[in-house]
Amino acid sequence: MFGLFFILILVLIIILGHVYTANINTISVNKYTPAVVPDTSTLVDDLPFIKSSLTQPVDLQKASNPSPENIVKGKQVYETYCTSCHGNEGKGDGLAGVNLKPPPRNFHILTEWTNGTKISEIYKTLEEGIVSRGMAQYNNISPEDRFAVIHYIRTFNKDYPIADENEITMLDNTYSLSKGVYKPAQIPVRTAEKFLISQYNPEENKINSVYSMIELNNSENGALLLKKYSSNLKTLITAIVNNKDKITNDNDFSNFISTSSLQKGFKSEITQITKEELSVIYTYLKNVILK
Ligand code: HEC
Repeated sequence: MFGLFFILILVLIIILGHVYTANINTISVNKYTPAVVPDTSTLVDDLPFIKSSLTQPVDLQKASNPSPENIVKGKQVYETYCTSCHGNEGKGDGLAGVNLKPPPRNFHILTEWTNGTKISEIYKTLEEGIVSRGMAQYNNISPEDRFAVIHYIRTFNKDYPIADENEITMLDNTYSLSKGVYKPAQIPVRTAEKFLISQYNPEENKINSVYSMIELNNSENGALLLKKYSSNLKTLITAIVNNKDKITNDNDFSNFISTSSLQKGFKSEITQITKEELSVIYTYLKNVILK
């Protein structure tokens, strides 16, 4: 008898649990459009505009085997980019490197390298740099020219480790060399932000004019109360304008306030708002925004 009773209770709990979880979605789903406003903090280094690009696929067979033409090309690249620090003869004694600590690598000595002396390791050095130790990255040099300069560096000492096929395959897998690399375009964060804002806030002009109107209004109670209860008036106005279709009476406005109010630009004190205050604000909003 008791056994049956417990089973009944269990079944009841399961059913109730199911009903609860089935409804929890509708409770937590955010039905209001978010308010996106410009970030006013200053970005010291914003990202630069970069066009998308496709680096040409590299013929690895050619690139990884030092041919005489390869070495001639490598010498040109070396003299353009590397001599200033690593010196004409690769001894790490270039003028620009005199005060660097650690000093630029001497390519005649093969011990104690940071990344290493293998072709793949030097490639990594050029791709990523060893920035904390004063060696910049040179990923602006095309992969083929990078191989060329690597071969040139390796002429300074006959004991550089020989490249094996595995090493080159791994390099290819890491940097997708034989396929060519697609680099997506990049735009500054501030520009992206503008796009986002205009997408979310088609009514930016309205938002700005209502915002300054309320900001300057020190006589009407509705405006004063809005300012009293907002932590960020601009965000709040944005949220209201973006959701004006969903606010058609006091009750809607009360619902609007009670969900994610902090994100909408309200202060936490908004939970203590009285019915009268709510009604005053709503009536005021009806005149300036919601008509
Ligand atoms: C502004 C000075 C400077 C320039 C220009 C420069 N390097 Fe360096 N490079 C350094 C310094 C400093 C180090 C030492 C870093 C270390 O010890 O980890 C270094 C180290 C290296 C290393 C050794 C990395 C290792 O594993 O220890 C390689 C290889 C290298 N540079 C190649 C080049 C090539 C190729 C160029 C030209 C495309 C170049 N560097 C241009 C300063 C420079």
